[in-house]
Amino acid sequence: MRQVNFPKRQREILKSVGKLAKKLGYSAYLVGGPVRDLLLGRTSQDIDIVCIGDAVKLAKKFREKVGGKLLSHHHFPNATVKWEEGKIDFVTARSEKYPKRKVGLPAVEKTDDIMIDLGRRDFTINAVACNLLPEYFGDIIDPFNGLGDSEKRLIRILHSRSFREDPTRIFRAIRFRLELEFNLEKDTEKYLKHDIKYLTKLTHDRLWKEFEICLEDGSSILSLFKYYGILDVLGFNCPDENFKERVDIGSVQFGVNSVNTYILALAENRNPKSLNFDKSFTRQMGYVREIDNKRLVDVRIVHELFNLEDYTLLYLFGKYPNNSIIIENFFDNRDELVCDLNGKEIRELGVEEGPLVGEIMNKIIEKKWLGKITSREDEIEFVVKYVGEENDT
Ligand code: CTP
Repeated sequence: MRQVNFPKRQREILKSVGKLAKKLGYSAYLVGGPVRDLLLGRTSQDIDIVCIGDAVKLAKKFREKVGGKLLSHHHFPNATVKWEEGKIDFVTARSEKYPKRKVGLPAVEKTDDIMIDLGRRDFTINAVACNLLPEYFGDIIDPFNGLGDSEKRLIRILHSRSFREDPTRIFRAIRFRLELEFNLEKDTEKYLKHDIKYLTKLTHDRLWKEFEICLEDGSSILSLFKYYGILDVLGFNCPDENFKERVDIGSVQFGVNSVNTYILALAENRNPKSLNFDKSFTRQMGYVREIDNKRLVDVRIVHELFNLEDYTLLYLFGKYPNNSIIIENFFDNRDELVCDLNGKEIRELGVEEGPLVGEIMNKIIEKKWLGKITSREDEIEFVVKYVGEENDT
């Protein structure tokens, strides 16, 4: 029987989970991503355990042994143990029944059969379990020939309704294709293309969560989204190659995560209200719409740039290559773009109390932005001159 080669410490941890499960009269299996990755010779930090029995009880016993924190969800007995060495998710084995006519979350029931739990999963390569009970430790259970597909480097759904029942699997299939350098099995690809339309049934929250996960590894996945027609069906814009190249460069240069930058670009032609973004992101979308090449070269833009999140600045950097130096300067110098003189000091130089004080402060920041004011003395000189000119008129 095929066995998994665990790294030494992981093996010890999993053996102790198996022993605890046995004491409770349960079975325990390592499942899904970690088995897939170990069989592919990739290291996996994730540990997902399926328990035939009560996963929360097993997790509690494990926590008693290793310490750390236990987080449990009792509506369905699942739990996570986080301790100094890592994290393990304990899940009670379950069956899932999807609603017949609409896309939605499945009805979930406990099961005593690991085969049923494996049968509810997305792809054959993720439907492989590894027994953790002491007498069977390391034995592989592979009812859908996930190992064969893994050797052939194929992503294959377990049944024809898979994408329709859970359209997030469309994103997962494409993500694994890229990440693992696998191909989509012929029928799987056929169903994926056919069922793309079901993506429109996902709530925006689920949609953005999937986009975020997919974009976490960079923008190359966008070309595959375009190829499969995902962006068209969802009415999203496809950022061009120039934009992607510049954003990827800027992301490294400024140390900014580009996930939200790409989401801004995908949604740039859409009404944010219809996409259920949170308030802060909706505000950023609004700012982006107000700024173009012409506005960027206006010195007063500096005050607006302070309202922008780093991912939005990165968007402008990618979108307006002719003026990207402005964004670059802002990233480099924004910490110095403050007025050294405070309101009281400005008034003491002869400015009347009121909105003019704020206006002068803004002007000082603009001059600093242009490099025309570089010291506190320059600021004082500017205010004195300003007051003098006001008095002359
Ligand atoms: N799963 C599924 N359908 C989904 C999401 C998950 O069948 N839409 C199953 C798969 O068997 C998967 C397991 O649940 O292996 C765990 O899901 P998750 O942790 O999200 O993904 P992993 O496969 O572990 O991969 P990764 O961590 O790389 O996303």
